[in-house]
Amino acid sequence: MQTQRMVTSPSPADAPALEARGLRKRYGRRRSAAIESLDLTIDRRGLTALVGPNGAGKSTLIKTWVGLERPSAGSVAVQGIDPWQDRSAAVQRIGYVPQSPALYRGLTVADHLELAAGLRPRFDRPHAEQRLAELGLPLRVRVGELSGGQQAQVGLALALGTRAPVLLLDEPLASLDPLARREFLHVLRDSVLAEGSTALLSSHVVTDIEQACDRLIVLGNGRKLLDESLEDALAQHAVGKDGAVEPGAGRTFVASFPDAGRERVALWRVDPDVERAAGLRRPTLEEVVVGYLAVSRARAALPAESAVAA
Ligand SMILES: Nc1ncnc2c1ncn2[C@@H]1O[C@H](COP(=O)(O)OP(=O)(O)O)[C@@H](O)[C@H]1O
Ligand SMILES: [Mg+2]
Repeated sequence: MQTQRMVTSPSPADAPALEARGLRKRYGRRRSAAIESLDLTIDRRGLTALVGPNGAGKSTLIKTWVGLERPSAGSVAVQGIDPWQDRSAAVQRIGYVPQSPALYRGLTVADHLELAAGLRPRFDRPHAEQRLAELGLPLRVRVGELSGGQQAQVGLALALGTRAPVLLLDEPLASLDPLARREFLHVLRDSVLAEGSTALLSSHVVTDIEQACDRLIVLGNGRKLLDESLEDALAQHAVGKDGAVEPGAGRTFVASFPDAGRERVALWRVDPDVERAAGLRRPTLEEVVVGYLAVSRARAALPAESAVAA
């Protein structure tokens, strides 16, 4: 197993925030890899959503950037730095909120700020405290006494206090109610815009994050299924009743899947400059995501060789 040196620009400031090149990660002797031949570049500031069902490989991918998982093949980089070559330099550039909360229930919020400041010399404690004050979160309360939503906000405040240019948030919304989700996304979005940072937010549902994100990456079975701006993802697809239209000029069939009722819907990739055929309409973002997941499900069901060829 070798980690190649990433060929990127020498200055971290010019390098993309996050990169993966030919990334493969297989745990132990498992038959299938958690991540398979993944190429990804996130060089824009703003919020990118990483969406995929449970087991898609979202946490594995995020953990390779934090240097917690070692690639089986290929490489990753954070602002041009390979975390396996220089973990501390990579981690200095990252604010990370892991999927399982990394908080100590018996310690107060203020204790956590103290700990964070001890671990990161550049930790901006007033910045983190201000976020918490804006949400009316008391500093002297033990974390175990806070609601799930408040604990998530503490995790986010700790990540934002790092003032890191790259934020990796692994399913931070999973345990939150709808109001707490919105509050969390508001704080995150405001901060990303104000700081000009790059945030990657994973989720297993797209509806949670579609208002907050500008780019969407869909992962299924460890492979990248879609990587587009939200705008393009909506403009370049259409949906209609399955079988309602045939493939034709300006449209290619992607997949069909069950709708919320008893019918099947077909997702089409369309040329936005060609007039949309009768029977097709603009999709919701969820329909685009589900359509691509249906493609990956169909591929996974094929024998290994044809799946590779597909
Ligand atoms: N530490 C581990 N050891 C073995 N297999 C793992 C480990 N972590 C994750 N996996 C497997 O890798 C795949 C991807 O998991 P994960 O990255 O956690 O997906 P997600 O975060 O999208 O739910 C799954 O099949 C999961 O069972
Ligand atoms: Mg996960």
